[in-house]
Amino acid sequence: MNREEARKRIEELRREIEHHDYLYYVLDRPEITDAQYDLLMQELARLEAMYPEFITPDSPTQRVGGKPAEGFATVTHRVPMLSLNNAFNEADLRDFDRRVRQLAGGEKVEYVVEPKIDGLAVSLIYENGRFVRGATRGDGEVGEDITANLRTIRSLPLRLRQPVPFLDVRGEVYMPKKEFARLNAEREEAGEPPFANPRNAAAGSVRQLDPRVTAKRELHIFVYAIGLIEGRDVATHWEGLHLLRELGLPVNPHIYLAATIDEVLDYVNGWQEKRHQLPYEIDGMVVKVNSLSLQRAMGSTAKSPRWAIAYKFPPEQALTRVEDIVISVGRTGVLTPTAVLTPVRVAGSTVSRATLHNEDIIRQKDIRIGDTVIIHKAGDVIPEVVEVVKEKRTGAEKEFHMPSRCPACGSEVVRMEGEVAWRCINSSCPAQLQEKIIHFVSRDAMNIEGLGPKLVVQLMRAGLVKDAADLYYLRYEDLVRLERMGPKSARNLLQAIERSKNASLGQLIFALGIRHVGAKAGKVLATAFRSMDRLMTASEEELMAIPEVGPKMAASIVAFFAREENRRLIERLRQAGVRMTEEETAAGDQPLAGKTFVLTGTLSSLTRREAGELIEKLGGKVTNSVSKNTDYVVVGENPGSKYDKALALGITLLTEEEFLAMVGYPSSRQKEEKTAEGEQIKLF
Ligand code: IVH
Repeated sequence: MNREEARKRIEELRREIEHHDYLYYVLDRPEITDAQYDLLMQELARLEAMYPEFITPDSPTQRVGGKPAEGFATVTHRVPMLSLNNAFNEADLRDFDRRVRQLAGGEKVEYVVEPKIDGLAVSLIYENGRFVRGATRGDGEVGEDITANLRTIRSLPLRLRQPVPFLDVRGEVYMPKKEFARLNAEREEAGEPPFANPRNAAAGSVRQLDPRVTAKRELHIFVYAIGLIEGRDVATHWEGLHLLRELGLPVNPHIYLAATIDEVLDYVNGWQEKRHQLPYEIDGMVVKVNSLSLQRAMGSTAKSPRWAIAYKFPPEQALTRVEDIVISVGRTGVLTPTAVLTPVRVAGSTVSRATLHNEDIIRQKDIRIGDTVIIHKAGDVIPEVVEVVKEKRTGAEKEFHMPSRCPACGSEVVRMEGEVAWRCINSSCPAQLQEKIIHFVSRDAMNIEGLGPKLVVQLMRAGLVKDAADLYYLRYEDLVRLERMGPKSARNLLQAIERSKNASLGQLIFALGIRHVGAKAGKVLATAFRSMDRLMTASEEELMAIPEVGPKMAASIVAFFAREENRRLIERLRQAGVRMTEEETAAGDQPLAGKTFVLTGTLSSLTRREAGELIEKLGGKVTNSVSKNTDYVVVGENPGSKYDKALALGITLLTEEEFLAMVGYPSSRQKEEKTAEGEQIKLF
């Protein structure tokens, strides 16, 4: 490939990656698998490394860059960032409607209703379609320049799909519930205080001076309003939201256009319970006048617009009793106190335990065994004690003291300087080993199906497993003898363990449980080093040369591999046949191993992404373009140019039916026939 061809290919790859980001983040309709996406990114990174003169700041490879900043510059918003007045009940919303209609002077009023995302308000500036600056709300007039950190958010496009001359768009950066729970668990293991809610976690992540820290946290954004736009005329807020979506910006899918306040109320009430099913926290619904001319006519007070209101859901809390306080020991030895509660329903589920985080929190809140307490779910996910109802004390409550010895192994516990946690210092403490193994087999790690925490405990108690490597030396004879383990489950378990040998290098690195190395970092390290051996011998400098790796992570990785016991563990995993490199493809016994597929056109039984995942699961590879190395091209409805290319190169073409037969997936017609006979079929 010459220089000119490289330049063209680079631009082509960027467009393709942006297109897939759009499908994934904005339309929620991905067409390719993560592995295919990674291939595109890798090809782009490789070409950019060969031709650095073609690197531009808006390239998808350039999201994490730059060095830690000294501080944030200030930014004056061209249009102030207002906040909202609150409504707490139906009467408040009806009052709002009355005021709006009065000001509208008889004009018909429509409302747009949107979830109120609990995150951090930001302004994003695009000039000629390029993301040039992002800022916090600050005091509404002046905010902080957090461009470098916002660039790390993958759902934020660095280029718009159409280059409007100027756009100032407002939105909310948020952290999904799952990530909030993960981050807090990680902080607890590291002896750091947890974040109180996803909003604080998002704000804390975005206001990091080092963008690498932001990049490690999963943050997303929804945009909800146009602050200023040039080059386009927009008459209603609804139209504006759709324009933003067309431009490639992520707009919340649950926006709703209501013709009357009754419709608003119905919609809002419908979300009261449903909100717990969303993957992110919402603390209410925002109601906005749809017509922009009416919005302008109504204007704003100093702080908030008259044409919008935030309906806040009542906080979900429940009263219950602390029956006991128990201690669990995590994989780094942290002792975490947990309150055992009389079961009670709160925020969509029954809660019987609440984390007390650490000793300081028990002291601050003065929580005693026997206390009546108010609980809630932080971030709508983590049950927590809000406060003690002191009036209900009888005098029989018992104060709790952290144990001075590890409840699992009896070793000494210490509190490190600057940490809130007590730790068991015995690295062969059975509780720590147990948690390490539970982590090792978990979904994002080696993903050993059917091997949950209970079975790990059972295997350890039976003396069959002492560390993660022992899993790969389990024998059928040992397993069948276990209680509740028949021949079939024993065989299934061995098969699942066998399959996990082929987990990606990134999964393995994450599974090792190195401090500060999460699932994302595992992947980054795997891509950078491609083999466990190279990672094991990497110096702190080499590690820190990777944009996503900061000094803390680098030091922790070096320290991990310096320990003899960790090197021994890896050696035993290697000897058992666990994959230690990135290039290695799937095991030979997988039916599609070594085969390369290209998909074109629309499939009727499954999405292209599902088809891709299926191929990868069976050991095949999916690429985005047809070449002489392609084995099969699967042709759906309305195939594109890949079809012509496949014909020209004489590649084997598969119809959807042929493809489904090859991968053993029931086609839609077969599905109907079978269901008609009343037979249950299980899809993968
Ligand atoms: S509209 C002038 N829409 O809630 C319009 N805000 O106090 C101002 N928020 O600061 C905001 N989701 O951070 C709007 N769909 C949404 C929102 C939303 C969350 C936040 C935003 C704002 C605060 C209101």
